Amino acid sequence: MLRSLHIITASTSGNTDVVADVISQRITERGADIAIERQRAELAKPEDLLRGDVLILGSGTWNTGGSEGQLNMYMDTLLRVRAKDTDLQGKPITFISLGDDRYYFRTRCTEHFLRFQREHKGTLFVPPLIIVNEPYEQKEKIEKWADKLLSTMVEGC
Ligand SMILES: Cc1cc2nc3c(=O)[nH]c(=O)nc-3n(C[C@H](O)[C@H](O)[C@H](O)COP(=O)(O)O)c2cc1C
Repeated sequence: MLRSLHIITASTSGNTDVVADVISQRITERGADIAIERQRAELAKPEDLLRGDVLILGSGTWNTGGSEGQLNMYMDTLLRVRAKDTDLQGKPITFISLGDDRYYFRTRCTEHFLRFQREHKGTLFVPPLIIVNEPYEQKEKIEKWADKLLSTMVEGC
């Protein structure tokens, strides 16, 4: 069983953090013996990506650098600058991706996350959670994803 979860989020208007809150709360409510640690992307160091048995990275899609369809600027700087040489050593990893259907490059941050996972040798643990538009009415979807994450952690090794 995998017993700890490290969640790193970049959230400018708070939506990604709301999703991470719902996931953390759901896992705690289920009474699972899983330690959950939360961290802001702007404070994370490359070695923090190796914390926890499972790593979750969360970000909205933004116009970082001037073009839409990018990671939130704090996640972008963490992954592309500070952690550019980090080897995830097969670490189980997954993602929370947010976006809005008003944008052409809807939830495109997912692609940046998956490229990071592939290029830095992480192992995709469960498919990413993709939330289009505000998360407040999407609690059920988020909780279902948290349940899948939890059952995979319990089954894992
Ligand atoms: C300046 C700006 C650019 C954005 N660009 C995109 C985009 O390219 N694609 C998309 O799907 N959503 C885009 N969004 C929507 C955000 O990803 C969405 O509001 C998300 O929930 C924000 O998450 P956060 O509150 O955690 O930062 C953009 C929002 C802003 C304000």
